[in-house]
Amino acid sequence: MVSIISIKSKKLSGEIFVPGDKSISHRALILGACAVGKTTIENLLESEDVLATLSALKALGVNIKKSKNLWEVRGNGLGSLRSPDKVLNLGNSGTGVRLLMGLISGCDITVSFKGDESLNTRPMKRVITPLEKSGAEILSNDNKLPITIKGNKIPIPIKYRSSLSSAQVKSCVLLNGLTSTGNTSYSEKVKSRDHTEKMLHFMGAEINSKSLNDGTNKIELKGLPYLKGKDFNIPNDPSSAAFPAAVALIIPDSEIKIKNVCLNSLRIGFYETIIEMGGAIKFINKKNISGEEVGDIQVKYSKLKGVVVPEKRVPSMIDEFPIFCIVSCFAEGETVMTGIKDLRNKESDRIKEMVQNLNKCGFSVKSTSNSISITGNKKVNLGKEIVIDSKFDHRIAMSFLCLGLLMENGVKVKNAETINSSFPSFYDIMKSLGANLKK
Ligand code: S3P
Repeated sequence: MVSIISIKSKKLSGEIFVPGDKSISHRALILGACAVGKTTIENLLESEDVLATLSALKALGVNIKKSKNLWEVRGNGLGSLRSPDKVLNLGNSGTGVRLLMGLISGCDITVSFKGDESLNTRPMKRVITPLEKSGAEILSNDNKLPITIKGNKIPIPIKYRSSLSSAQVKSCVLLNGLTSTGNTSYSEKVKSRDHTEKMLHFMGAEINSKSLNDGTNKIELKGLPYLKGKDFNIPNDPSSAAFPAAVALIIPDSEIKIKNVCLNSLRIGFYETIIEMGGAIKFINKKNISGEEVGDIQVKYSKLKGVVVPEKRVPSMIDEFPIFCIVSCFAEGETVMTGIKDLRNKESDRIKEMVQNLNKCGFSVKSTSNSISITGNKKVNLGKEIVIDSKFDHRIAMSFLCLGLLMENGVKVKNAETINSSFPSFYDIMKSLGANLKK
């Protein structure tokens, strides 16, 4: 068990690179495995979550290796995967397991999956339902892991309307549709991150998205595409960048730049909300790399005002609510977040963990099953160190370490090794900016 302590810090300053994007890293490996020929990946996120997906693909017979700084995936085309001789352990990674379940369900193989203490409690019905419609046979522990899937070699093309706005469910259904002989269609009420659609298009699939009159996003994918191996250069992760950005916003006199970050419009809801609160955030040096918008994020200390976060923005800042709660504690007035009930199904119940722990730290935070409201207060001083357990949730761990940088007596986070799921260099990068962290 690793504990990290964060202590009140002076201003943050400097230029940093956070690691590669987690969502795009998983997809580059998985789609590389579906393609024919060589896919190269530059700036792959080498975190525990992504490495779990990489090991699972190797166990499925995919040839993946690293030469110098470039990862190479030698795909043999759709349907070339073989049944592994062990249970695939996806550790903490919901993205890894749900995307791979989609892929496996469209192949003529049988695969068992398990995860860590956190992943084993997460709901899988959201992916089991569409995959069973396509003909996969799935045995689960009451819709949770461990799960065994007997794939259907030629999946039935499905037309699926999801009640959730979830990129994991969407990507699972699309990956399943790759081996189907017909067209798969998927609709979601609010558009979730679209990396899978963009990358499939880039690799040669016929895939179209359109916005219907009522705002629904509808995607159609033609089955059995010829996917060509490609060269991916992965932009840096806006969800990881949110941690140093948040601290720079709330420690007086801070000014930092985070370079080469993915600025896909479906990923930057956190930054858009902060700008509405009066935050000095600028996106500069914008360019397009492999179909994704990339740029630098400049952040300066700002006096922030509380806001009501529009519900439609929730999917584009879904992973940033824990750190957004920390920022809201330092804004003037009330900040309200609604339509966030799926936060209860993340690596931990994030509504419960944020509310309980922030109250423990002396902030005024309330919640319902579907919302959080926070009244800002810059002068909390409890006169003692606060101890928080990460509950195997990397974003809870990093959020409270960020908060500790503003607290007179600091914060200690237990089980902080979970940070390695997404941001293994968090400690060093934050220290390089001037954050007072200790192991
Ligand atoms: C992800 C989608 C989101 C997000 C997760 C990564 C992805 O999950 O929370 O960290 O890469 O598709 P949901 O699809 O469940 O909202």
